[in-house]
Amino acid sequence: MDDRSDTKQRGPDVMSDLGADLDALRADAHERLAGSNSAGAVDDLRHELFGRSGKMTSLLRQLASVPADERPAIGQRANDVRRELESAITDRIEELQRSDLEQRLASEAIDMSAPGRPLAIGHLHPVQTLMRDLREILHAFGFEVFEGPEVETEEYNFELLNIPADHPARDLWDTLFVAEPGSVEAGEPKPATDGTILRTHNSPVQVRAMQALSPPIRVLMPGRCFRYEAVDASHAFEFFQVEGLVVDRDTSLADLKGLLEEIARALYGRDVRTRFRPGYYPFTEPSVAFDIGCLVCGGEGCPACKRSGWMTILGAGMVHPTVLRNGGFDPDEYQGYAFGMGPDRMTMLRHGIGDIRLFFSADARFATQFAEGR
Ligand code: DAH
Repeated sequence: MDDRSDTKQRGPDVMSDLGADLDALRADAHERLAGSNSAGAVDDLRHELFGRSGKMTSLLRQLASVPADERPAIGQRANDVRRELESAITDRIEELQRSDLEQRLASEAIDMSAPGRPLAIGHLHPVQTLMRDLREILHAFGFEVFEGPEVETEEYNFELLNIPADHPARDLWDTLFVAEPGSVEAGEPKPATDGTILRTHNSPVQVRAMQALSPPIRVLMPGRCFRYEAVDASHAFEFFQVEGLVVDRDTSLADLKGLLEEIARALYGRDVRTRFRPGYYPFTEPSVAFDIGCLVCGGEGCPACKRSGWMTILGAGMVHPTVLRNGGFDPDEYQGYAFGMGPDRMTMLRHGIGDIRLFFSADARFATQFAEGR
């Protein structure tokens, strides 16, 4: 076209060429607009037409070479096409943006009538459930909760409970000692000289309760204790105990027996059979073991009860006079009884669980079987 634009007689040709180019550009632009399906593509087209070296821009520049008498007409047409395409582009972009938005709204729509998704609600560990049950049962008998430290001293864990350092009964409690500061780093771990240990039972809390409270005392002392055990199906190095203590003026072994029978019935049913057996603990005199009729075989004898028909669920006895004295009481004036329960073992009996290690396994398949626990 350029080679012809400088000759005047070519004027009409230039004009009709320009008109044809305008028509072609217009048709092509409309076709591409209709075919483009993103606002970005339309914007590219806009640039292609109206940019500095755009097709429309260069067509408009060519108007300068059209003979002056014809220029207004063709100029008018060119302007109309320009305006038409500009507004078609703007409309198309809006249209595409609107349908994008509609699609997004449709895909993000919330069905307000849909039922909510159920939340996974946790529940108590079966041992905790049993400990709560114990607390409720004992609460009915006027007991309140008293807690002591898990990191204890040898004095409370043993001495004040009438178990001197050289007493063979210490062998009953395989103790985890806290190391003397620096001794581990030095490669020679030694027990702390201040006698700090992990409590091996909850009985030391008895002495703390006696020292803190005044009679009549009725407390239950739940919590964790620790022993240096070879772990197997019935032994863990970390487990729970619930200790009970009564100190008053006229307490007797008969009171203790009556209370323990009520606890057994509340936990295992009215028909549960119970028995007292002589036992030995340095901090009680007399000491007893308390058994219930085997829940697995009903007393016939089976592997679970070692063929005896009975299962021991706790140790108990009348508080030893020395322990009463260590707690600040005159044994001629006050007596008391104490009992120590193992909620892990009691939970195993309650649900027929064969291995104590399951309690610490953090296996949801085990734990969720007890979801009815409050
Ligand atoms: N502390 C004892 C233990 O861990 C259990 C026990 C026995 C507690 C007799 C008592 C009791 O209060 O009177 O083996």
